[in-house]
Amino acid sequence: MQPLVVSALLASLWTLCTGAGDWCYQSQFSCDHQCNAPEKWDHANSVCGESFQSPINVVTRKTLKDERLTPFKFDNYQQIFRGTIKNNGHSVQVGVPHVSTVSGGGLPDMYKAVQFHLHWGNNGGPGSEHTIDGEQYPMELHIVHMKHHYIDLTTALSDPEGVAVLGFFYERSKSANRKYDPIITALRSIKNTNGSTSLPSVSLAQLIPAEQNLTSYYRYKGSLTTPGCTEAVVWTLFENPIPLSMDQLKAFSELKFPDGKPMVGTFRPVQPLNGRQVFRSGGALILASATLLMVAMATALGLSQPN
Ligand SMILES: *[C@@H]1O[C@H](CO)[C@@H](O)[C@H](O)[C@H]1NC(C)=O
Ligand SMILES: *[C@@H]1O[C@H](CO)[C@@H](O)[C@H](O)[C@H]1NC(C)=O
Ligand SMILES: [Zn+2]
Repeated sequence: MQPLVVSALLASLWTLCTGAGDWCYQSQFSCDHQCNAPEKWDHANSVCGESFQSPINVVTRKTLKDERLTPFKFDNYQQIFRGTIKNNGHSVQVGVPHVSTVSGGGLPDMYKAVQFHLHWGNNGGPGSEHTIDGEQYPMELHIVHMKHHYIDLTTALSDPEGVAVLGFFYERSKSANRKYDPIITALRSIKNTNGSTSLPSVSLAQLIPAEQNLTSYYRYKGSLTTPGCTEAVVWTLFENPIPLSMDQLKAFSELKFPDGKPMVGTFRPVQPLNGRQVFRSGGALILASATLLMVAMATALGLSQPN
């Protein structure tokens, strides 16, 4: 081989190994795959290296209880729609009609749902983006909303509070969660990148815990967890996880990245808080005092009963 050819080859190998192409997750990085792993996302987009990034680890001991974090008001979350579910090469995403809204919950405005997508691990292993006291859940759902008067996400992202993401964790359960059947079934038809299919009928409400179980949550200001990492997100992380069986969790690992490798480990590592305060709703505490009150009342009633 000519020395010139050899050095050209070495140079191109160097480019490959340092990553010069599209962004990727750590699980996708190898020397023969040209991509920017999370530690290098700021090369592709400098915002990814800024101070108020997501996801984060929530240290519950350091959260501050905020009385303004009241229960949410969900509107049209029960609305059944036909969505299109797509393997976009990084995740699986479903666009939703802009009719379901969320307000209250200490949000500065009413927000409408735009899309939802998920982040997961390898065959049911750790895969959530946010962690709670260091615990990484098997999967995390992001329902992405924008302030109700915006018409697209791009516009909303130029407002520092333009986007509200509701984040839900999953936990492994013994039995399958039948409400997820439409999604799990659809995954078989979209294994390859850019594959898409229609979801016969789903509602946002069927994918998340019952409303009375959504009063305990964490709140902080952060960013999108994929490039461009825009810092325009009001984050809500619900304490109550969604149950899925091991088989249901594993179904997500059957999807494929653009290079045909299994789509696993689709999460960004946690980012530094850099002085941000994480708040928690009063939900858990209100429930506890309600229980105490009931116990007290029952005791009082019991005492007043004739023997
Ligand atoms: C609500 O939470 C309770 C306690 O964690 C749980 O037993 C119940 O199944 C939940 N209900 C729904 C619909 O998520
Ligand atoms: C997916 O679609 C995008 C946009 O049309 C295209 O650039 C990309 O090459 C496609 N990827 C695969 C693996 O088909
Ligand atoms: Zn996400």
